[in-house]
Amino acid sequence: MSNLPQPVAVSEDATSLACDALLLGAYAESGSFALDERAAAVDAAMSGGIARFLTSSGFKAGQGEVVVLPGSDGIAADAVAIVGLGDRDKADSTTLRRAVGAAARRLSERASLGVCLPTSDGKTGAVAEGLILGSYRFTTYKTEAKPSKLERLLFVGASDPELERASIVAEATCFARDLTNEPASTLTPDVLAERARGAGDVAGFETTVWTEKELRDHGFGGLLGVSAGSEIPPRFIQMRYAPSKSSRKVALVGKGVTFDSGGLSLKDAANMETMKTDMGGAAAVIATMSAVGRLKPDIEVLAFVPSTENMPSGTAIKPGDVLKHYGGKTSEVLNTDAEGRLILADALAFASEQGPDAIVDVATLTGSIMIALGKKSTGLFANDDALADELVGASRSAGERVWHMPLYDMYRKELESEVADMKNVGSRWGGAIIAALYLREFVGDDIPWAHLDIAGAARAESDYDENSKGGTGVAVRTLVSWIEQRAR
Ligand code: BES
Ligand code: ZN
Ligand code: ZN
Repeated sequence: MSNLPQPVAVSEDATSLACDALLLGAYAESGSFALDERAAAVDAAMSGGIARFLTSSGFKAGQGEVVVLPGSDGIAADAVAIVGLGDRDKADSTTLRRAVGAAARRLSERASLGVCLPTSDGKTGAVAEGLILGSYRFTTYKTEAKPSKLERLLFVGASDPELERASIVAEATCFARDLTNEPASTLTPDVLAERARGAGDVAGFETTVWTEKELRDHGFGGLLGVSAGSEIPPRFIQMRYAPSKSSRKVALVGKGVTFDSGGLSLKDAANMETMKTDMGGAAAVIATMSAVGRLKPDIEVLAFVPSTENMPSGTAIKPGDVLKHYGGKTSEVLNTDAEGRLILADALAFASEQGPDAIVDVATLTGSIMIALGKKSTGLFANDDALADELVGASRSAGERVWHMPLYDMYRKELESEVADMKNVGSRWGGAIIAALYLREFVGDDIPWAHLDIAGAARAESDYDENSKGGTGVAVRTLVSWIEQRAR
């Protein structure tokens, strides 16, 4: 990633702050705009110049709409940028994060931004997150990279701790985006493991990586089966953040398929185009650990990433093959493209043995969830309604779209197999539910578990809100908020 801007609190007031642009807010009101109170004070210092300019430019203050005008007598900033925040009644932290994400893209030619936006109810942190996330660009392979020039976000009237947390969370999200955007031939399972290890060294969590031999010794038949068609060996990445004495413990599991060709049940060219993204769950989990290591909540957090390619070849698993998972359950593989659940099965069974209070897995698991919820939201499945409610609550405060889906038992029979304990696919209908029902079988008895299907939300088809086209780093913010809540 290119350098991300740093948020800092400044002691100057908005009018005396020297910066390339001063960012102010306005609400949509009766077909026109109404300046936010802090913007109105700057407007007064400029003798009404802002309001006159906005009126003449037809500004309606729609969410993320931006107008820039030159500075003038009365303020020290070189320019003033007004961002639309939409309806005042609906302008919460989430709206603000989304609006300034778009503004960050519009203002990417400036180095320093003075920020003077609404501050109530945690809005400052959301604004800092939105500005950092909106500045993200994946430039690694551009010979003429055009990174955002935003370097300094000067927050008027903010406190350092909320800015510190926001930059940790936003940087972790951008780390997940980087992992997701990296091509599959460079981000292989061993490279993913090294990136996790590197993050652990910096943020302060332990990493243990199992190679093929250890996977064989421990009976990870699902992961080994999926990797059988690939020239590149699989990895099982284990991470652990442990504060000195905490009685609480949760586990995360992330799907780390670095490329999903479908295997012998080969995808067509169009459906394969974006399949480097199939480790988006792993990216979210590793990045969450990097944020957790820096935020130091009072709770032990374990994380597990089974990682492999899914490739067709003479050594690949074949439809009809049977795999034996960690823990002993067997799966009949009828479609090799339903590979995510096969590797998650091993990891969920393993995670269950570590005695966590709860397990949350994150996976780009099914095309079906995109049919149900579209490409910008996450489906949540859980064997425990209280855990589901916690996660939906965390997603709301983090500003991510997560919807609680049903785990209807009546569909379970679709997974019955003639030859093994289960088959890995049912019918097409309700495919995301059936996939979740399959996963549930591998979770230890009485362990609250939730599954986030991020197949749609892990990738943005174009810039929207705080997301840039490509990997979104979705679920990092929800997981971090949830872990913080659990630590309280
Ligand atoms: N990685 C895909 C799911 C996916 C699809 C993620 C589109 C992101 C975008 C997964 O491994 C897969 O191929 N699932 C199949 C399952 C089916 C064969 C039961 C699917 O959803 O079509
Ligand atoms: Zn697949
Ligand atoms: Zn997949």
